[in-house]
Amino acid sequence: MERKKDWFKEMVLYQIYPRSFADSNGDGVGDLNGIIEKLDYLEDLGVNAIWLSPIYKSPNVDNGYDIADYKSIMDEFGSFDDWKRLRDGCHRRGMHLIMDLVLNHTSDQHEWFKKSRQSKNNSLSNYYIWHDPVDGGRPNNWESVFGGSAWEFAEERGQYYLHLFAKEQPDLNWECKQLREEIFDTIRWWIEQGTDGFRVDAISYLEKPNGFPNSKKAPTGADGLVMDMEMCSNLPKTHQYIHDMKTEAFEKYNVMTVGEVACDSPACAWDYVARERREFDMIIPFVPPIVEIKTWSPKAMKDSISSMYKKLQNDGWWARFLSNHDKPRQVSLYGDDGQYWEASAKMLATMLHMLPGTPFIYQGEEIGMTNAYYSSIDEYDDIDTHNFYQKLLSAGEPLEQALSLAQKISRDNARSPMQWDGTENTGFTSGTPWIKVNPNHTKINVQEQLERPNSIFKYYQKLIKMRKEHPIMVYGDFMPLFEDKDTIIAYTRSYQDETWLVLLNFCKQQASVNLTKPGICGKILLSNYGRTDDCFGEILLDPYEALVLQVD
Ligand code: GLC
Ligand code: CA
Repeated sequence: MERKKDWFKEMVLYQIYPRSFADSNGDGVGDLNGIIEKLDYLEDLGVNAIWLSPIYKSPNVDNGYDIADYKSIMDEFGSFDDWKRLRDGCHRRGMHLIMDLVLNHTSDQHEWFKKSRQSKNNSLSNYYIWHDPVDGGRPNNWESVFGGSAWEFAEERGQYYLHLFAKEQPDLNWECKQLREEIFDTIRWWIEQGTDGFRVDAISYLEKPNGFPNSKKAPTGADGLVMDMEMCSNLPKTHQYIHDMKTEAFEKYNVMTVGEVACDSPACAWDYVARERREFDMIIPFVPPIVEIKTWSPKAMKDSISSMYKKLQNDGWWARFLSNHDKPRQVSLYGDDGQYWEASAKMLATMLHMLPGTPFIYQGEEIGMTNAYYSSIDEYDDIDTHNFYQKLLSAGEPLEQALSLAQKISRDNARSPMQWDGTENTGFTSGTPWIKVNPNHTKINVQEQLERPNSIFKYYQKLIKMRKEHPIMVYGDFMPLFEDKDTIIAYTRSYQDETWLVLLNFCKQQASVNLTKPGICGKILLSNYGRTDDCFGEILLDPYEALVLQVD
């Protein structure tokens, strides 16, 4: 099939969590000048787009996902001039700059909210979701994502406001046309400044269900509260608002967009990315880490890949990612961060880059960074981790058990400082880092891998280079193979006269695959075990082996 060519399909994107990437002034917090200093590194890796997690003014209750001013830069990160230098540095290197937009909510420190809460009849009173008390108390039984009721009382108005996330993150009222206009204006303003695209945060919750009914599900929190985000997910007006955002802003400038949405079924994904619906170019489906840890398997993963492919192949596109700032490290979650650390990191990279879709690399993934596994809860910073841990304790979970679970799901696993070298603070800062460095930085770091020929970094470099040279990796058709083998993910990619075979072994044991029937013979294009033989009958894959063959 001949797919429509688009720049965002051909790119390789690199996500930066600015707080943890590189600190230029020794205050222990990563910043824009730190990123500028590392642009040569990113160019050397070969990526051609970077996405910055939010860098706007924020009190950092949720590390920047609580925005206090959409048009100014957080002091700790630098100034607007620094942002312009970063933009120019990217563009000079042929790299796109992608910004994060948080539009479901703002910080309670945003001027809009400060004014809105003052009275029921000022010019911004309608910008947030306000509700009278019901029977003298909160309007319904919803629990917020970061714990406690989703409603908070404001004395000034004698009313509750809704916050699906922390109480310092009030939800915006998208029903209000004036608010929507102001947001679209802000988006156009960032595009005029030279932004090339957006990752749009938690965007599937814009419309709330009519009348704010109670959830009928079993309680998930204290006082009978229920966390039931499904009630607010993917409602019709949410799609209408996104469509308007596309036609009023994104589309006018041909910028790239990727929406973070709570949906993992192919039909739901299609609604967001089908070209004719004019909403997003791709989506990042959000799955809470605790759910993913419990339900993940190679079988579930490949079933989802195949069904999503079938549904979206004609008119949609995929963001391919295994990691981001909300997830445990991929090598710890899907691979092995012990004995097969290096093999499994490369195997996962092979999958990411060889699937149809745009690869998203999360900082540190290219050197195989692992979970941080901090030894005490006090070493964790993340609001979500602390809420999760407290909930376990209230449910009677023993301390050790609660810590062990928190260590596995914590978003700080992805937020520990980027490991540049083996020195005390891993080259991240000359001061005291805002969050502890992972002790394994003495072994896992950029410097070591830049010097070693077969490092994970060099493997990523190779994959990215291959993508630039072989349109089959971008536009090739996908067909799953060996679907009955639960721990192997295998598929072909085909484009024009060429076919590639990708074999990935997802376990610590060897696994055999019989290639006699397809009669596969061909050149090895990539191997994470340094294989060189070319023809296969029965092949025994090593633990976490990845192989890419060009089929004759
Ligand atoms: C998204 C972000 C996450 C944040 C949440 C609330 O899921 O990725 O980091 O906490 O939205 O804004
Ligand atoms: Ca700094």
